[in-house]
Amino acid sequence: MRTFFAIFALAGLSMGGTASAQECTQTIEGNDLLQFNLAEVRVSAGCEEVTINLVHTGALPVTVMGHNWILTATTDYMDVAAAGQAAGAPEYLPAGDARILAATDLIGGGEETSVTFSLAGLEPGGDYTFFCTFPGHYVLMNGKFVIE
Ligand code: CO
Repeated sequence: MRTFFAIFALAGLSMGGTASAQECTQTIEGNDLLQFNLAEVRVSAGCEEVTINLVHTGALPVTVMGHNWILTATTDYMDVAAAGQAAGAPEYLPAGDARILAATDLIGGGEETSVTFSLAGLEPGGDYTFFCTFPGHYVLMNGKFVIE
């Protein structure tokens, strides 16, 4: 145990003491009313990796009320949302699209999923938007991803 805590302390120091595990792992909920519970997800630039847990708190099936968590630059948000709709079921996500910086699976009510990705290549202070690509959902289900 002593070794474990020593490593943990060193890891904290290497990140300048600004990035707690909590800041690198965030949980966001989607419901049956086309809503995410967060309008903004903030993570520390010191995070080597970020994990987003997506929890669908509703009851409707994925084919009716599917939710995913897709991250792009804000300038790509609308175009990728349209491309996702055009890609169609079951994932509503264009394959191999380099504009997509992170993506979870599409889930239905009562399900959970997560995605872990590196912040390498993303800019602290940059303008990023997360959203759901299920047809029409991007209008209400979107928010800002802030690297600080
Ligand atoms: Co959705």
